Amino acid sequence: MLEVKNLSFAFKDKPILNDVSFTLADGQIIGLVAPNGTGKTTLLRLLCGLLPSRDAQIELNGVSLQKQHTAFLKQLFFLESSNHLYADLTVRDHLLYVKKMWQSDVDVDSTVAELGMQSYYKKKIKSLSLGMKQHALLAMYIISDAQTMFIDEPLNGLDPTSIQQFEQEFRKLRAAGKTLLVSSHQMDSVGRVCDNVFFLKDQQINDVTNTGQDMMALYTQMFMTEAAANV
Ligand SMILES: Nc1ncnc2c1ncn2[C@@H]1O[C@H](COP(=O)(O)OP(=O)(O)OP(=O)(O)O)[C@@H](O)[C@H]1O
Ligand SMILES: [Mg+2]
Repeated sequence: MLEVKNLSFAFKDKPILNDVSFTLADGQIIGLVAPNGTGKTTLLRLLCGLLPSRDAQIELNGVSLQKQHTAFLKQLFFLESSNHLYADLTVRDHLLYVKKMWQSDVDVDSTVAELGMQSYYKKKIKSLSLGMKQHALLAMYIISDAQTMFIDEPLNGLDPTSIQQFEQEFRKLRAAGKTLLVSSHQMDSVGRVCDNVFFLKDQQINDVTNTGQDMMALYTQMFMTEAAANV
């Protein structure tokens, strides 16, 4: 379980979060939703110490981000985007690296087969398409076997079949008791897989339980009516 208390953050004069507190329960997929430039990626960076959280209390299964940083990080996996992959290394290199560093028992070959990556997993990252790199990134998450996963816009650039495949993998991770915080602009997908959705607005998190409501309608109500009024 991730517990966050009193988290505030600003870039100079741009406030991003104002005294935010929330909990992520185990075995849940939580969607993180907001328009471009609101602070989704910033929040994910804060939650693993890539940005300073100073006065906040952030604990993962009772381990403090600030006081027990290494032990905290061992429990989670976050790789912001496929831009952070090493261009001259292969997919295989990345997967073996994660398996070793996270001391994981998850089998690389069967993960590659499950995600349909056999034809390119020995290729260098620089020769892959965006969708292929997104698959490589997802494979790294799966192989890490980390309890908690922060995933930033994993569905970017995916074809409809791959989106369904990713949703299936997220559900499998949830069934295995993992905690997933997943940012996305794909509201239909958010509606299909998320247990709860964090709508980030006015530096606050609005935590909405997914009871099968139309997430796009909710998004419009929350964000677009205001944007239209400002035109
Ligand atoms: N390193 C930085 N220095 C200064 N401002 C930053 C920095 N990183 C992000 N910002 C600003 O913080 C705000 C939130 O950015 P962030 O990347 O978290 O948004 P986001 O919700 O992830 O957007 P997107 O949907 O486009 O990925 C933006 O106004 C951005 O310009
Ligand atoms: Mg972002």
